[in-house]
Amino acid sequence: MTADALTADEIRRAFLDLMTERGHVVIPRAPLIPRDDPTTLFTGSGMQPLLPYLLGAEHPAGSRLADSQTCLRVQDIEEVGDNRHTTFFEMLGNWSLGDYFKQEQIPQVWEFLTQRVGLDPARIYVSCFSGDLVHGIPKDEEAAAIWTRLFSEAGVSTGQADVGTEAHAAAVGTDGARIAFYGSKNWWCRGGKAEEMPIGEPGGPDSEIFYLFPQVEHDPAYGAHCHQNCDCGRFIELGNSVFMEYRRTESGFEPLPRRNVDYGGGLARIAAAAMDSPDVFRIGLLWPIIERLQELSGTSYEERTHAMRVIADHLRGAAFLAVDGVQPSNKAQGYVMRRLIRRAVRFAFDLGLEENFFPAIVPTIARIYEAHFPEVGEHADYVQRVLAKEEQAFRRTLRKGLRQLEAFRADGVSGGELFVLSDTFGFPIELSTEEAVRQGIAVSPDWRTEFDEQMAAQRARSQRSTTLHV
Ligand code: ALA
Repeated sequence: MTADALTADEIRRAFLDLMTERGHVVIPRAPLIPRDDPTTLFTGSGMQPLLPYLLGAEHPAGSRLADSQTCLRVQDIEEVGDNRHTTFFEMLGNWSLGDYFKQEQIPQVWEFLTQRVGLDPARIYVSCFSGDLVHGIPKDEEAAAIWTRLFSEAGVSTGQADVGTEAHAAAVGTDGARIAFYGSKNWWCRGGKAEEMPIGEPGGPDSEIFYLFPQVEHDPAYGAHCHQNCDCGRFIELGNSVFMEYRRTESGFEPLPRRNVDYGGGLARIAAAAMDSPDVFRIGLLWPIIERLQELSGTSYEERTHAMRVIADHLRGAAFLAVDGVQPSNKAQGYVMRRLIRRAVRFAFDLGLEENFFPAIVPTIARIYEAHFPEVGEHADYVQRVLAKEEQAFRRTLRKGLRQLEAFRADGVSGGELFVLSDTFGFPIELSTEEAVRQGIAVSPDWRTEFDEQMAAQRARSQRSTTLHV
């Protein structure tokens, strides 16, 4: 760990300062709940609140914007617990709305990472778009040439390789493939898949930046060789520059009226790289929560790494949801918030934290964000009340639910029984299935269909009763 490494707070500041120097206007974060976008539950990237401007509308603050956007991505909720996945994160972002393009942007992000943050250029690896044969969008030779120049000026050797070719197979994970070309992995749009983009949606080739942690051994379970996009944790993605210049049409893609850049960098991951720690939970935006958990539970992070990571991530996400006006409920965003809180309670149970402990964590979260998101501290009492209420309600049912699940140990559990657990004991379905797997209790293969049938029947019953009472 390097003693003089910038902290996450300092890195955020350094980024916004650099962007200001380069003529960007720093805009405030948008709430986690998108204002005018019913297509998505949460703000999952920095570009999302800027969609109309990427499509061509004039932004009142001009054509160069920057921010640090709070985001929530719950698709990977069960991956939280490894060294780098979190549901809540801050994305450092900057945008050129029809202003500068690759030639200016790639050197700018390089300057930020290598000079302002001080990362080692020799540990940076990148990827570029390999071209799309079907839609005729060309291979991104231009981005690769800019990267080659920057690496060479820093005295770092490079090689390029198309993923899937023999040259790549020979060079993966070495300087021979410092610039690797991937297909769909280097196309960015909301939702991720070019083929599934709704008509009119913007997207484009991107160039991703990874940091190598040589102290992490490649795990052959993820493939014979390690490379930029390998999931073993040796390479961690730090950021992504999207060259957003296309829009989906009926038959393929057309150029947008203006070429944009949409850069997003994971603040936590960049801070972890600065500390030379492959574990993002060691950074100043998360570690104080872990320390508090250690104090409260009398257990150590080394012993209970997974549980502490899940609790720290989920409580922080739930706290920001409360700040942004969400309450736990059975629907939409409220359901996700409930799930985060209940998972945190469940994992806390494993740490022996069986008393209400959320109120003891909220002030720590408020302190962490004091400088940049003072709204957390301003609403701390309210956040504590919302979280504590849900925590208390769930604790009452947790023991009963766990006992109930235990009763299925011998014969396994069906979808109908899982429905009863959810309906009567308030066990979110994902939590019961996860718990069953964890405890080695067999879940019937068609549980989902049975569960959905019971749910539909219950909805019909409650609709009938509502109608009768009107
Ligand atoms: N919008 C891009 C991303 O989320 C930068 O990765």
